[in-house]
Amino acid sequence: MNVAQLQTEILKLKQEKDVCILAHSYVAREICEIADFTGDSYKLSVDASRVKNQNILMCGVRFMAETCKILSPEKTVYLAQPIAGCAMADQMDRETIAQVKEHYPDHTVVAYINTTASLKTICDVCVTSSSAVQIVNKIENKDILFIPDCNLGAYVAAQCPDKNIKLLNGGCPIHACVSVEDVKRAKQQHPDALLLVHPECVPEVCAMADYIGSTSGIMNFAMQSDKKEFIIGTEISIAEHLQYSCPDKDFYILSLKLICPNMKATTLYDVYNCLSGKGGEEILLDAQTITDAKKCIDEMIRLGE
Ligand code: 13P
Ligand code: SF4
Repeated sequence: MNVAQLQTEILKLKQEKDVCILAHSYVAREICEIADFTGDSYKLSVDASRVKNQNILMCGVRFMAETCKILSPEKTVYLAQPIAGCAMADQMDRETIAQVKEHYPDHTVVAYINTTASLKTICDVCVTSSSAVQIVNKIENKDILFIPDCNLGAYVAAQCPDKNIKLLNGGCPIHACVSVEDVKRAKQQHPDALLLVHPECVPEVCAMADYIGSTSGIMNFAMQSDKKEFIIGTEISIAEHLQYSCPDKDFYILSLKLICPNMKATTLYDVYNCLSGKGGEEILLDAQTITDAKKCIDEMIRLGE
C-alpha cells in the first residue's frame, strides 16, 4: 500500500474500532495528518482526558501513552511503537528519586511530564514545557526540587526568581546537544531569521533566542508572527509542519542533531498494524500506580487552568 491508501485504511479502521489517535507534533507528518489530535505534551494530556472513544492510540513516546492511561484508566490505551521511549524519562527512576527526596524533605517535587508513571507516583506536581513557569509560580512552597531536566529547570528558575529551585543533572540528550556554535552558524546563514528554541536546550543557547517555548508555543509564535524567516530550535519535524502551515514563510532547522530517534520510530505502518491487532502495545499499569501518579497530573491540570 502507498501512503494515501494506508491513511484511508487507518481512517476506516479507527472508525470501526472506536479509536482516537493522538500524535505528538514530533512524529512524522503522514501520521499527524490522520490523527484526531496533535500537539505538545500538555495539549495531548488534556485532549486525552476528554476523549470519548473507548480506545486511544498514542503516536509518540511511552510516557505520553502512560499519561493517557493514568487519565483514562477505563480506556484501552495503545502505544503504536513499543520501542519508542524517551531518553530523558529513562534517566531517573523512582528508587533514586526517593533517596534524593530524603535530602530535601521540605521541597515540593515538581516532575516534568517526561518521566515514567512509576516516578510520578512520588512527585507532587507535574509540568510540561508550556505550563512549567505558570505552575511553579502558583505553588505556595518556595522550595522546589525540579526533575529531571536541568535545562528546563534553569529556564523556570530564571522566570521564577522568588523560588528556590534545586536541579538534578538530567535532560534531553537531543536538545542539550545543540551548541552556541550551531546557533552562530545558523544565524550567519540566515541573518534575518528569528531564532525559536525549546527550553530543553542549554541556557547559553536559550539566551541567544528570540522566543523560548514548547513545541506548540514555537508553532503558534511562528504562525502569528509578521516575520518571514525562522530558525527552529527543536525537533526537526516542527520546521516541516510549519512549512506546510505557512508556505509564504521560510523555516530552517537549527541543527541536524535535533532528530529524536524515539519520536521518529513510529511509522504509518505501525499505526496500521496496531489498529489491525498485529502490533503496538497495550499500556498496562497497576491500580495503585494509576491512583498515585494521577495526583500529580491532576494537580498540573488544576494549576495549569
Ligand atoms: P513538549 O512539552 O513541548 O511537547 O515537548 C515534549 C518533548 O519531548 C520535548 O522534547
Ligand atoms: Fe525525550 Fe528528548 Fe525525544 Fe523529547 S526530544 S521525546 S525529551 S528524547
